[in-house]
Amino acid sequence: MNKYSRITGTGSFLPPKRVTNAELAAQLAATGVETSDEWIVERTGIRARHFAEPEVSTSDLGVQAARNALEAAGRKPSDVDLIIVATSTPDMVFPSSATILQNKLGIAGCAAFDVQAVCSGFVYALTVADAMVRTGSAKCALVIGAEVFSRILDFGDRTTCVLFGDGAGAVVLEASDTPGILASDLHADGKHVEILCVPGTVFGGKVHGNPLLRMDGQAVFKLAVGVLEEAARATLAKAGKTEADIDWLIPHQANIRIMQGTAKKLKLPMDKLVVTVDQHGNTSAASIPLALDVAVRSGKVRKGDTLMLEGVGGGFTWGAVLLDF
Ligand code: ACO
Repeated sequence: MNKYSRITGTGSFLPPKRVTNAELAAQLAATGVETSDEWIVERTGIRARHFAEPEVSTSDLGVQAARNALEAAGRKPSDVDLIIVATSTPDMVFPSSATILQNKLGIAGCAAFDVQAVCSGFVYALTVADAMVRTGSAKCALVIGAEVFSRILDFGDRTTCVLFGDGAGAVVLEASDTPGILASDLHADGKHVEILCVPGTVFGGKVHGNPLLRMDGQAVFKLAVGVLEEAARATLAKAGKTEADIDWLIPHQANIRIMQGTAKKLKLPMDKLVVTVDQHGNTSAASIPLALDVAVRSGKVRKGDTLMLEGVGGGFTWGAVLLDF
């Protein structure tokens, strides 16, 4: 048994192709789909996103983020004894992207699996890794969120295709005598499947149903703000902390208005909110570790800071992790 788990390094990776709102609007206009930089910025806060080239997979992005996190932690791939990849856009139906990524890291033998909780995937994966480290199943875990969400976007639907991007973020989570992860709180409610889903599947060698993302934006918006507040409060209560103890709120980067709404409900000033949605769009399971890494590397988040990570996404799934960095 280990007493605690603690993040010892963060990393991220974005595919080089950056597409601004104006560029995306021009591409969409060529196919008769109308949008504008003004509309996207005003409703979402998004200014640009990155798109992976067709030959680049989730594990390709994830392995780069993982290498960067290992370097930050001063660890080698051979130190890793658990790999969890949170993704909704895996390389293949099976095997998991985690096993493919493990091979790309040049290691073998340790447990490796994917977690599918859409945009809450990273907080789910981090919670599972924390439990496995504390029970002694692992000492040095790689927890990765990686997505090529552009693959499942309907570029004929302006209400969704402007919102998402591709990318990856990773953390190294190690056994520690000092905290670490303080508390977490995970939830799901499957009755909301219809408001955000990719309903297609593989059946008899063909895609069966619609393999592109479908969303009721307003229903998602309303649910998201409410559950993010609840999850944050529940996590703080479990850790015996209050909002005043939070140095940085790092929510899933879906929409600036959802994030500001959550900060407001928690009575946190906006300068405690880490925002990367403007530059990355919504990268689903990758968004939280990407935002965390950007905040760490820019010097915002420092060792000893208390962080509230929060995810919400399809399912519906939601959850939060409170930690001392
Ligand atoms: N460009 C221009 N006009 C647009 C676009 C676009 N890209 N998309 C929609 N519109 C139009 C609509 O057609 C509508 O026009 P109409 O009034 O003539 O019918 C008008 O803009 C308003 O549309 P609404 O859907 O009412 O716009 P809303 O203010 O609700 O914003 C949005 C839409 C941004 C999707 C919002 O509902 C939202 O942010 N929801 C949260 C969803 C989210 O962030 N999902 C991410 C995935 S889930 C997750 O990660 C948690």
